[in-house]
Parts: sequence; structure tokens; C-alpha cells
Amino acid sequence: MPRLQNDVLIRALLRQPVERTPLWIMRQAGRYLPEYRATRKRAGGFLKLCKTPELACEVTLQPIERFELDAAILFSDILTIPDAMGLGLHFNEGEGPVLERPVSNMRDVERIGQSEPMVALEYVCDAVRLTIRELDGRVPLIGFAGSPWTLATYMVEGQSSRDFRKIKAMLYREPEMLGRLLDILSSATAAYLAAQIAAGVQAVMIFDTWGGVLAHDAYLKFSLEPMQRIVTRLLQDQGECPVPIILFSKGVQNGLTDLATTGCHAVGLDWTTELGQARALIGTRVALQGNLDPVVLYAPDRVIRSEVKKILDQYGQGSGHVFNLGHGIQQYVDPEKVAVLVDAVREFSPAYH
Ligand code: CP3
Repeated sequence: MPRLQNDVLIRALLRQPVERTPLWIMRQAGRYLPEYRATRKRAGGFLKLCKTPELACEVTLQPIERFELDAAILFSDILTIPDAMGLGLHFNEGEGPVLERPVSNMRDVERIGQSEPMVALEYVCDAVRLTIRELDGRVPLIGFAGSPWTLATYMVEGQSSRDFRKIKAMLYREPEMLGRLLDILSSATAAYLAAQIAAGVQAVMIFDTWGGVLAHDAYLKFSLEPMQRIVTRLLQDQGECPVPIILFSKGVQNGLTDLATTGCHAVGLDWTTELGQARALIGTRVALQGNLDPVVLYAPDRVIRSEVKKILDQYGQGSGHVFNLGHGIQQYVDPEKVAVLVDAVREFSPAYH
């Protein structure tokens, strides 16, 4: 495996000294880039793009070629696991994901328990190996998965949801059934991330996009606890050189201390959390990642620069901060604005170290 020439992200995640604050952007490879839209067209669709290692690798590298970012993130999706479990995933242009065969009863859950998703997911490991080779140590590659709870929302609702009616009804009506589904997903996700690590990724992130729709006690039981099991399992496998683990529960202000005590190395924050307060609360245990409001990228350059400065000021002096947006970059952002963000973080952040 090539040695990393730029390991500032890994050092910041491990709260080791750095000379500037590392930056990467959630959804950095995506529709706001014309070269991404061209490759997706060539692939014949988003899922084909994910499932063709050469093209997934090409798209992963696009933002790295264009901007001075400190990490690449594997191009894939969190729904590759439900797809590999046979739920029939489609992406209809402009509509988001649809699962043809959602989970609605115990028979469905047991059928999923019998599936062997890692067999179908070999393409993801192929994409990791190819991308690691092409990156040649320029920056680390981040692997990822969805949290069991977030995957379960799509698997039970069958699509994106506003009110999460089906899955929350399941939670209060048939908690054992949901518990069994989350057990299956925890094991599958731990195996999936372990396989990405074995294939070469240098950090991993778990996206818990929908943890924030739960009441606090339900969050602890149905979202945090399954993530805890994955973290424990990954840490067991790690020796002297840990692969840093980032957990991101969007919209979960009350759960930050709980997240930080899972044993993970870093916690991702959305833009509603004040970074300085989060640091005071959990900054001695974990690194923090975030948290510029993605909508700031529609603002004039001087506003982007001052908002960047604000975030750096909130975190304050010292290592343990990874600059990112508070959620994924939006498709209508002008790529030139990303260059403004990158320059601002590169220009201002050395003063904090
Ligand atoms: O960050 C990166 O650059 C890596 C790629 C990545 C994608 N999805 C590519 C993608 C990552 C890390 C994800 C994670 C993901 N996928 C999450 C968690 C993160 C988050 O945003 O909260 C979720 C909830 C999904 C499920 C998903 N995938 C949805 C709801 C959608 C449709 C929404 C939309 O933006 O249209 C997707 C599609 C998707 N995943 C796209 C990309 C680039 C757009 C597909 C396209 O090209 O048309």
C-alpha cells in the first residue's frame, strides 16, 4: 500500500498535531460537478456508476483533481447494503431512492437475515482497491456506510420519508421485529466496513442521517446502540495503527456525549451545533468534523470567507478539527465557490495550530 503523502486528515482525526485544519466535503463527488454529470451519463445511471469500479474510481478522483482537498471519499451509496440484500433498489431521476420490496413483517426480516450481502458487494472492494492504487498516496481514502437505523428507515418506508410513519410505528408497535432487523444490519455493516478497511480505506465514516427524528431514549436504543456494536467490532480487529472511525448523527444535539463514548475517534456535526460548545462537551475524547451550513456556498465570496473564519474561531486553537460542511454539498452550488472555501480554509487555518 502506498505511503500517505498528505496525512493531515488522519492526524487531526487522532487529535495529533497538524500544521493546518484538514478539509473534505460530504458529497464532494456529485452533481454540482459537470465532469460527474458527464461520467454518470456515460455509465447510464447512478447505480451503474456505483457498480462499475473503473467509473466509481474516476468519479472519486474528480474533486481531488479539481480542488486541494485533504481526503477522497469512496464513491458509492449507503443503500448498497439493502440492494445487496435483494430489496430491489432504483434511483429515478430527481426522485431519490425507491426499494421495490420493502420490509413489512417478520418473514421479510428473516429472509434478509438469510441473505449474504458481502457476496454481491465485492464491487465495492474492487472500487476501493482501484482507487487506492490511482490515488497513489496523495490523500487518504475514506470508506463509509449508513447506520443500521438510517438503512432501516429506507428499508421499511421503501423510499425517502417526511414523517417516518411506518418505521416509527414499527418501533412502538413491534420493537422486537425492529430490533432483529437492526441486529442483522449491524452485523452486515460491520462486515462491510471491515472489508473496506481490508481493501485499503484509511478512515471510515458512519452516516446516521435520520438519528435526529427519534426521541432521545429511542435514539439511544435504536440508532446509537447498533452503531456502538459496529464500532466495538471494528476496534477489536484493529492493532497498533487504528483506522479512525467517524460517527455522524444528523440533528442529534442531545446524543453528542453518548456518541463520543462509543470509542469512535471523531464525531461529525451538522450546522445547528455550536462547534465551541461541542468541543467543551466532548473535545477531550474525540475529534470534531464540520460544520459549515451547506447553503453558505450560495453566498458571495466574502461571506463564505467570513463564515469559514467563524467556524475556525468557534473551534479555536489546536488539533482535533476536520473542516467539512454540516451535510452534503447541494447540486446547484457553483464549483467556483468550493474553490473559495478551500482557499479560505488553507489561508486562515494555519494560525490556529
Ligand atoms: O460524499 C461523497 O462524495 C460520496 C458519495 C455518497 C453518495 N451518497 C453519493 C450519491 C455518499 C457518502 C452518500 C451517502 C448517502 N446516500 C446518505 C447519507 C448521507 C446524507 O446525505 O445524509 C444517504 C441518506 C443516501 C441515500 C441517497 N442516495 C439518497 C436519499 C439519494 C437521493 C438524494 C439526492 O440527492 O438525489 C441518493 C443518491 C446519491 N447518492 C447521489 C449521489 C452523488 C445523487 C445521484 C445522482 O447522481 O443523481
